[in-house]
Amino acid sequence: MAAGSFRRSIASQLSKVLDLPPENLIKSISAVPVSKKRHVADFQLSIASVIENSSSDCLAQDLQLQAQQLAERLKCDSVVSEISAGPGTVNFTINRELLAKTVLQQVWKDGSEYGVKSELFSTVPRQKAVIEFSSPNIAKKFHIGHLRSTIVGNFIANLKVALGHEVVRINYLGDWGMQFGLLGVGFQSFGSKEKLKSSPLQHLFEVYVQINKAAEDENIKKLAKDFFRKLEDHDEQTLSIWKQFRDLSIEEYIRIYKRLGVHFDEYSGESFYQEKAQEVLKMLEDKGLLQKTIKGTGVVDLSEKKDLSTVSTVMRSDGTSLYITRDLAAAIDRMNKHSWDTMIYVTDKSQSNHFQHLFQILKLMGYDWAERCQHVSFGLVQGMKTRRGEVIFLEDVLNEVRSRMLQNMTSTKTTKEIQDPVETAEKVGLAALIIQDFRGLLSSDYQFSWDRALQSRGDTGVFLQYTHARLHSLEQMHGNAELTDVNVACLQEPDAISLLQHLLRYDEVLYRSSQDLQPKHIVSYLLTLSHLAAVAHKTLPVKGSAPDVAQVGHSGAGVLEGGPEGGSIHQGFASPAVS
Ligand code: ARG
Repeated sequence: MAAGSFRRSIASQLSKVLDLPPENLIKSISAVPVSKKRHVADFQLSIASVIENSSSDCLAQDLQLQAQQLAERLKCDSVVSEISAGPGTVNFTINRELLAKTVLQQVWKDGSEYGVKSELFSTVPRQKAVIEFSSPNIAKKFHIGHLRSTIVGNFIANLKVALGHEVVRINYLGDWGMQFGLLGVGFQSFGSKEKLKSSPLQHLFEVYVQINKAAEDENIKKLAKDFFRKLEDHDEQTLSIWKQFRDLSIEEYIRIYKRLGVHFDEYSGESFYQEKAQEVLKMLEDKGLLQKTIKGTGVVDLSEKKDLSTVSTVMRSDGTSLYITRDLAAAIDRMNKHSWDTMIYVTDKSQSNHFQHLFQILKLMGYDWAERCQHVSFGLVQGMKTRRGEVIFLEDVLNEVRSRMLQNMTSTKTTKEIQDPVETAEKVGLAALIIQDFRGLLSSDYQFSWDRALQSRGDTGVFLQYTHARLHSLEQMHGNAELTDVNVACLQEPDAISLLQHLLRYDEVLYRSSQDLQPKHIVSYLLTLSHLAAVAHKTLPVKGSAPDVAQVGHSGAGVLEGGPEGGSIHQGFASPAVS
């Protein structure tokens, strides 16, 4: 890793002066973010972080003075050409030719794995992660919360895979419960076998809406209850109807997720844990954790003082299980099946309490691995409407973004040069949707706007895709020179240096996102990369420059695309995780 070799070299000099092992210093040396005010230093060491690592009596001393003193004790060498002190930092400038050469060679060599092989990850053990996301409820709305869960979960899974971890993607479908009682009855009156086959999600939703209205009638309600009871009793015919609803729905989900580039290893929903939930209740009882209330419901006491001031209800008075009971069963079953190191649930923040209770009960049951479960929550999105109205199906959102994007493309006449405008509109539109969602902290709520998301300028997914496509065509048009034939000394203009400096930071950014699972670090990195590329594109033209200069410009384009095999607009962004 390019940044790594520089960090190592700086750390080894520092280690002699500070008498600390270089490994302890590496994480305190970070690449300086590129700012509008051009800077010359490439790396900086934060004095506070080394003082913390060393003796405590240094703490009282003035940081600026410390930085100055330390800078004076360091010497320039073949890697570092300048050392200076800033407020609380020591700044290092890398030899300019070496910077260009090392970064470009590394990008060329690692391709799409650039940044991933950094030693920042060397102390992170390879893990097996179960990631549960999307998890819509059959026959109900696929709301914006499910869309967010889908793209955030997919981001986390992609990031983990890119960093070498093993990932199991699970869709915990809402495929059990009274809604199937209603659907079973509703289908007899309002169902159509043809419609069920051709568009199961939409048809089941329509039947569900209709039967819900009809169920104001007590007789219908009773019929639905009977149907669901038969389902719980495993009546064969009833089960086969349920299975058909479920199977056809999953088939359609798979098709739609594919448009988003999302897939699952398992569709194991709530139905699967219906019976296992009864075993969980038995276990809770055996462990003395299940308490009966006067109403006959079963609760687990989660209060510190054990005075029932905080409880979680795990059993209805008729002995049947609840949402949380099935989640308990699912967690235990997944541990038995996958022996995971970490399990992540992705839902909106309204379920935070639920997951907190879930992890607490698992802990009380003696499962220490409950500490390795994590709920990644996100905020609410307001105002996402399609032209037809409220969002009900994921497909509505995908079609809407595609048609709006296509319209924008037609009005700016960009469709002419594009081979498959509809496909392009879909890919670019999806990028716009994802980037709008990933720009802020996941926990923030935000107001959705199609116009803002689909702008071609500014910090949008459209701008990212546009930059990517532009660089890709530059690469296609100007050949594929080997980097060894390139005279890197040419690459010394301030705009080129800014790009190289930015590339130095990529592993740190990946590391940050991998730690807090927030996509915004990678997204803002890519947006800055695109801005820098746009500037460089103007000031360092490939076309019309002398061949040796042009080659370097072209290699720079390769850099931005993630190496020699950088994709086209159809393949998404340069980053392995965000697509
Ligand atoms: N189906 C649920 C819903 O739509 C989300 C499931 C979340 N995952 C879980 N293990 N409880 O609200």
